Amino acid sequence: MAESERVRERERPPLGDNPYERIMRQRKELAERNLTGPVVVRREDREWFQARQGKLLFYLDPVTFKDTPLQHWRVFLHDIKTRSGKHRHQGGLVIYVITGKGYSMVDGERIDWQAGDLLLLPIKPGGVEHQHFNLQPGSDCRWIAFSYMPFFDHVASEFTQTENSPLFKPES
Ligand SMILES: [Fe+2]
Repeated sequence: MAESERVRERERPPLGDNPYERIMRQRKELAERNLTGPVVVRREDREWFQARQGKLLFYLDPVTFKDTPLQHWRVFLHDIKTRSGKHRHQGGLVIYVITGKGYSMVDGERIDWQAGDLLLLPIKPGGVEHQHFNLQPGSDCRWIAFSYMPFFDHVASEFTQTENSPLFKPES
């Protein structure tokens, strides 16, 4: 075998494609992303959208943004115009109120909050049904949620939409 062929073989060992090699590649990509991924997620790189639950903007979300470090976090803004949709999922996440004044109905109980407050959704068997309201419609009312996905998965959280945001228009 010529020397150049031996070198080529050493450079490209035939590792093949199997579950073990896929895990090795996935761990390498994860380390790469954590080393070189964006340290600042710019507001202008993200978009507002109208969802069934409300007007939302996601900074981090492992389902949609796979190029960021911290793939275990979902972090999003919610802009409440009058009221949000209503849904049920497990608690254990935190919501920081950025601006405005409002309240949330949490399993039928009214919880008031305003800018600067931190709202904690409880962990309960079957999850927590909740809906958010702006007490001063016409004025900004925004919060940001921080949800740690492994925790969310470990408590077997499901999502059920029980009422749509009044601003949501289903695609026909
Ligand atoms: Fe929620």
